[in-house]
Amino acid sequence: MATWTAPAPAPAPAPAPAPAPAETKPSTPKHTITSSEAGGFDPQKHLNFTPPHKVYTMSDIGLPADTGVSPLAVSDPFPLFTPEAVARMRAEILSEPVLLNCQYTSNIAAYSHLRGYSAAHAPFTHAAWTHPATVALVSAVAGLELAVQFDYEVAHVNLSFKTEEQKLSELRVYCDGGASGDGDGGGKGGEAVPILGWHRDSYPFVCVVMLSDTAGMVGGETALRTGTGEVLKVRGPHMGHGVVMQGRYIEHAALPAVGAVERITMVTSYRPRSAAVRDDTVLTTVRPISRLPELYDQFATYRLEMVAERVREQLRRLAAARASGTALATRDIKRFLDEQERFLAHTNREIVDDADVVMGVQPVSTTVVPV
Ligand SMILES: [Fe+2]
Repeated sequence: MATWTAPAPAPAPAPAPAPAPAETKPSTPKHTITSSEAGGFDPQKHLNFTPPHKVYTMSDIGLPADTGVSPLAVSDPFPLFTPEAVARMRAEILSEPVLLNCQYTSNIAAYSHLRGYSAAHAPFTHAAWTHPATVALVSAVAGLELAVQFDYEVAHVNLSFKTEEQKLSELRVYCDGGASGDGDGGGKGGEAVPILGWHRDSYPFVCVVMLSDTAGMVGGETALRTGTGEVLKVRGPHMGHGVVMQGRYIEHAALPAVGAVERITMVTSYRPRSAAVRDDTVLTTVRPISRLPELYDQFATYRLEMVAERVREQLRRLAAARASGTALATRDIKRFLDEQERFLAHTNREIVDDADVVMGVQPVSTTVVPV
């Protein structure tokens, strides 16, 4: 497994500019971290895990059972972190260094993101997600032993703040039978403009945790496209609860949530821990909202470590065959080499030259979601 060291504190290239303010700009609450709040994640004290009531498999949603690398499609929401853990995560992400240096916007999401901050600026949050106990719980829900994708993807945050007036206006539209586009354009009756359009994730698995009070919040489901083309809506988690999804292999969209002035979700991405399991990671959706040198360093490092592990295993097989007086079949040697060539070519393709990446611009889907 890859072991990551903290990236150098950010002399970050200027992130994409914050979205244009609405008529009355919602204020972002800020918090100053005190030294007593830093670090100190204790799984006994801060984890509050109960397994999800239901886990939908790929077969359950009409997709072939071998879609993806585990049977899981998506879980029901389940408790994961205690209220104290949520409070400490909120304090870290709403601190000035994170909000000023690590906030990104993009063309497809009606909210901003905090990315690549946790190792340098959020020690409790980073420890909470990378602790082996937390990874083991997420792996149990996923049905496969997972590793955190890499450090940059620990605790990605989606941030949405509204004024009381915006909240009430959206509720009125919602109650009149339309679905608000969450600042991203209104919906028509019977359709919702997703706040994050139809897409597949870049990484095999995600765990999404709600960090806001959902009392009064309406909507906010994840819409999944099933094997028959129908839309399955999965309800969002309450505060401190999470959902695990194999988002690389399922087309999905985030539906708008109304009725709250604040919605903060935290997302950590995962890949299979074993180098022997296929890894279909791409960087499509994250490249334009990342500091590329850090992203590429961490992506290339774990992919090369996977190749190194596979080569070591292949050397063991060759030596064992030789010791037994036989030789590995030509087709087996060639199959291994072909696989590694494809793996390295894919790795290279994902590392797009910096000059060819347009920051803040992601693949667009304008499709509405039937509700
Ligand atoms: Fe997604």
